Amino acid sequence: MQVFRCRICAEVYIGEQNPRSCPFCAAHQSYFVPAKQWQLIKAAQLSPASRKNLKQALELELDNTNFYKAVSEKSKNSYVRSMFKGLSKVEREHAASICKHLAIAKPDSTVGLDQAVDSDQENIQEAARRENRAVKFYGQAQANKPEIKEFFQALMQIESDHIILTEQELKVKGG
Ligand SMILES: [Fe+2]
Ligand SMILES: [Fe+2]
Repeated sequence: MQVFRCRICAEVYIGEQNPRSCPFCAAHQSYFVPAKQWQLIKAAQLSPASRKNLKQALELELDNTNFYKAVSEKSKNSYVRSMFKGLSKVEREHAASICKHLAIAKPDSTVGLDQAVDSDQENIQEAARRENRAVKFYGQAQANKPEIKEFFQALMQIESDHIILTEQELKVKGG
């Protein structure tokens, strides 16, 4: 058995080998390293541009966390509830990681069921739109600190995986 640790969210995993993606923030396998070699990807100091982008990223992640949580509580379909519960947890982890970079406490979430609609199909379409927006944002976010650039790239990969997930679901449902 070994101890592994994620360079994006700092969470720890104990197992035979590092997971294919982080069970907490969903970062790809290469970010999950043996704990003895672990170092969090974090800039010593933030440039004003990085700080501005991190704040925008935090808003995006919190907003998605809350929307996904709302769907996970509102949907009548067990699979959809599971899918959105998972998405919400990942986005919450992203928000928490961003707060570490900004050296601020994580703001309270504000989940209202009214953030989701009654139709699963529409909620999944909305999720796809949100993930596309996130990928676009992380792709464009300027960061002159290489650590923040790498952090944004890791998040972009994860949100791209979420696009695949939502698209698969829309295909199944014929949307
Ligand atoms: Fe992680
Ligand atoms: Fe995210």
